[in-house]
Amino acid sequence: MTALKRIGDWKNVIVEFDAGIAWVTLNRPEKRNCMSPGLNDDMVQVLDTLELMEEVGVIVLTGAGDAFTAGMDLREYFRAIDHLPHLQQMRIRRSAWQWQWRMLMNYPKPTIAMVNGWCFGGGFTPLVGCDLAIAADEAQFGLSEINWGIIPAGNVTRAVVATMNHRDAMLYIMTGRTFDGKKAAQMGLVNESVPLAQLRDHTRALAVELLGKNPTVLRTAKQAARAVQGMSWELSDDYLMAKQAQARLLDPEKGRDKGMGQFLDEKSYRPGLKGYRREE
Ligand code: COA
Repeated sequence: MTALKRIGDWKNVIVEFDAGIAWVTLNRPEKRNCMSPGLNDDMVQVLDTLELMEEVGVIVLTGAGDAFTAGMDLREYFRAIDHLPHLQQMRIRRSAWQWQWRMLMNYPKPTIAMVNGWCFGGGFTPLVGCDLAIAADEAQFGLSEINWGIIPAGNVTRAVVATMNHRDAMLYIMTGRTFDGKKAAQMGLVNESVPLAQLRDHTRALAVELLGKNPTVLRTAKQAARAVQGMSWELSDDYLMAKQAQARLLDPEKGRDKGMGQFLDEKSYRPGLKGYRREE
């Protein structure tokens, strides 16, 4: 394993860089990485910083210690701001939604949530905001809001119904029951689940696979996959043609021409089985 290089100096988040991958770790393990206003402000800055770093190709989001995140901070994000004027509450809420879904869902680089442990309530939003997710079998998930007297707001319900089927979403929203990583994978909330001991290597392998792809095409493909969800088939078809043309125009490595040339003329690879040779 190559040495990790620390980037920046945030109070609530650790960012480490390793061969194209930025490992972003929510770092309040003594509070199970619950998301305070300070952590949310830090995350906005972290994502802003990594967006423009050429050497960062993939972001992995995880948590320190035995939690991914225990959700929103009940003390600092809820009780401590109840008495504040509405405008101040809105400002504090803004940094939460800003990174947890707005920035993540529109991020120009691939993002992977690596769920290492507890994932509750508000944690579902960044989980679903990431493009891909791998959980430890041992991780425990729960929509615990019902247990302490609120509904899963902060777009948690939106995130849940975007990924889980209606019956599962209703069951877990209404009961607050916990489920493990294997169940999360079975329901499609995460892509897969592996034993905790293998989680990091497994996630790294996926990140390395993504690093091997043409970044311009990857960015366009993931943007398009989100955007077409709200479109009619007619609009989507037209939009995808335009996106395709945009990617071709913007792609500095001219992937489409290379890919076709290496298959049709050189016969040096099969696109059905692997990617074209990018170097040269
Ligand atoms: N908000 C505020 N503080 C939290 C928190 C949250 N969401 N989750 C954990 N903490 C704090 C605890 O208050 C405790 O602080 P203290 O040491 O000052 O007393 C510390 O983190 C450790 O929590 P503890 O409950 O002792 O840890 P545990 O390992 O026994 O249990 C959880 C872990 C995640 C099961 C438990 O902390 C929990 O249920 N958290 C709330 C989860 C939740 O409902 N989240 C939804 C928010 S939208």
